[in-house]
Amino acid sequence: MHLSESDILRWLRETNESRIQTLYDTADRVRLENVGDAVHLRGLIEISNICCRQCTYCGIRAGNYRLRRYRLTRDDILACVQRAVTLGYGTVVMQGGEDYGISARWIAEIIRTIKRQTPLAVTLSLGERSDDELLQWAEAGADRYLLRFESSDAVLFARIHPPATGRETVDRIEQLKRLRSFGYEIGGGVMVGIPRQTLSSLAHDIAIFRELDLDMIGIGPYIPHPETPLGAKKHPGDPVEDQVPNTEQMTYRVVALARLVCPQANIPTTTALATINLAHGRELGLQRGANVIMPNLTPPEYRRLYEIYPEKACVHETDEQYYAHIAARVRSVGRFVGTGPGDRRR
Ligand code: 5AD
Repeated sequence: MHLSESDILRWLRETNESRIQTLYDTADRVRLENVGDAVHLRGLIEISNICCRQCTYCGIRAGNYRLRRYRLTRDDILACVQRAVTLGYGTVVMQGGEDYGISARWIAEIIRTIKRQTPLAVTLSLGERSDDELLQWAEAGADRYLLRFESSDAVLFARIHPPATGRETVDRIEQLKRLRSFGYEIGGGVMVGIPRQTLSSLAHDIAIFRELDLDMIGIGPYIPHPETPLGAKKHPGDPVEDQVPNTEQMTYRVVALARLVCPQANIPTTTALATINLAHGRELGLQRGANVIMPNLTPPEYRRLYEIYPEKACVHETDEQYYAHIAARVRSVGRFVGTGPGDRRR
């Protein structure tokens, strides 16, 4: 089934509940046919909440002076990696703000150590770094890179991502193509419902998932954070016509469409979804196209400080409790926890 961009837009505008249910059912079938019933777990290590950027939606932006900042040590990170091995995860994801106190060499050495000591796949999600750094990390053995492009609407993107002082603006869509040429599996994605995001721009974003042939696609609802310019606005002005709602339902719809345009991609059911529906968000994501969960492995004392949005789900649990909780949810929808790195199938 080939969806054109206007088909995608029609699905985003669909209001008939039973038709929306057929979209979910189709996404679930396409997921089963292409990536099966395994749900891959990726252990998320939030290595630093220090960030030089001023993204207007993000709680760890440099301008949030209320937030206590941390950076994990090499030993902290390697201890998290060992827990990932013990819990049977196939991948660790090292994610952080754009923290230029983190040198490329330091990360490269940690990647080499993980690759030497464990069978884990290594995913990086460290923002916009130079090609030179990204190449060094690929050479050190990093397998995948996540960089959500957030919006293909250049005006909206520029509005919510003020450029870093002294550095050029990065075209993230072009950056993802370069990352692939460096040998990474590439992950993109968007937030759903950021103010001024329109349904037609979102349809274009989804068409770009296919054009980039993304290996991984991260999709979550936009959650306002009060310590940010976007989230603090009590009266954000008149909503734009065609505004995307930042709802759970719209997020599932984007997950389902992402599955249809990239049938073999690894698509997580995100923590942001679990945050807006603690009871069922993860499972519903799994039943509407997703096949990956990224459990948090960050040491508990730092977890709540990685506050990209408020009230992040599961910040209080231990790794073992968290693992048990997630494995039970995976089984509750008739699926099983995958083993091994869970690479993109081709
Ligand atoms: N609400 C939802 N998602 C957010 N992210 C950052 N801030 C928020 C927020 N307020 C997402 C961005 C980023 C990812 C790591 O977290 O999409 O790429």
